[in-house]
Amino acid sequence: MLRRLHHEQPDSFAFTPANQKWAEAQITKYPEGRQASAIIPLLWRAQEQEGWLTRPAIEHVSTMLDLAFIRGLEVASFYFMFQLQPVGSVAHIQICGTLSCMICGAEDLIGVCQDKIAAKPHHLSADGKFSWEEVECLGACANAPMAQIGKDYYEDLNTERLVEIIEELDAGKVPTPGPQNGRFAAEPLSGLTSLTEYDSGRTQYNASAQLATDIGDTVQRIDGTEVPLLAPWQGGASKTKAKAKRKAATKPKAAAKSAAAKAPKPAATKKPAAAKAPAKAATKPAAEKKPRTMTAPRKSGADDLKLISGVGPKLEGVLNEMGFWHFDQVAKWTKQEVSWVDERLMFKGRIERDEWIKQAKKLAKG
Ligand code: FES
Repeated sequence: MLRRLHHEQPDSFAFTPANQKWAEAQITKYPEGRQASAIIPLLWRAQEQEGWLTRPAIEHVSTMLDLAFIRGLEVASFYFMFQLQPVGSVAHIQICGTLSCMICGAEDLIGVCQDKIAAKPHHLSADGKFSWEEVECLGACANAPMAQIGKDYYEDLNTERLVEIIEELDAGKVPTPGPQNGRFAAEPLSGLTSLTEYDSGRTQYNASAQLATDIGDTVQRIDGTEVPLLAPWQGGASKTKAKAKRKAATKPKAAAKSAAAKAPKPAATKKPAAAKAPAKAATKPAAEKKPRTMTAPRKSGADDLKLISGVGPKLEGVLNEMGFWHFDQVAKWTKQEVSWVDERLMFKGRIERDEWIKQAKKLAKG
């Protein structure tokens, strides 16, 4: 399938303040110079916030990671989990159409979507509330046929149940995820034949469905206040209203289990942000020297510093602000001068790793 940006795009994109904080925290997960690795979680977050990935969102994330826009677009258009067109305001239904689901009735489920939502995948229903698509195996083959709706799996589906689920969602309700035919998990429909001793004392639903029910974010858009999705390694897993609300809603039996699953690891095993600062200071080179800078480019015009691999639009702007406009300026940096610039760049270590000086020397020669 050809994956392109949608023909209609909003003018701009911004993370909510909480999501922006979350996104900045994600970047700290990666070693210096490798922050671009955060592109998947950041794009995903943008999609969870808006429902789909807009061009301004892709560009916003690329800028945050100091990547050329095309790099962000490459990732967004490669992975099918990224929606490049608007999705239903209530739910986007992903029907698994791979082998197990197909032989167990996926085509009939697709027929329901065509009848109730839109004749073609990725098209919105008349009221804009729903959209659908066929996806590859979602790894729940033992409970075929199934669909992912929002963040949850609805398994052991049939056409009647899928119709009901869509109607429930349309009415503002959230159907319980998991098997829809009475099975607890993936055991035989007639009941367990082994490990029956584990049948007692279990939660109301299987672990995945129970956690999904306890968290309850299902088809909601992410706004950044979700406790399990914050940045506990930075001490960001604060007690939010959402947490209190979910705790209150959690069934007592399930509480212990889900709390254990959701609880941030003990502080001792985490690396708080504060602990990072001294590490940075420790790696700071002893000798630094400010290179010669310029207040403006020469009359012939500034060089395109983005031709240096590793320098994106954002870093070019930072370099210009520091007073570097030309390849020959970069080519002349001494070790001490590299240390000075390095200390002031967002991603330390990049100059050496990407061999800027070697590149700049070549570029300066033309
Ligand atoms: S074939 Fe549908 S989940 Fe695997």
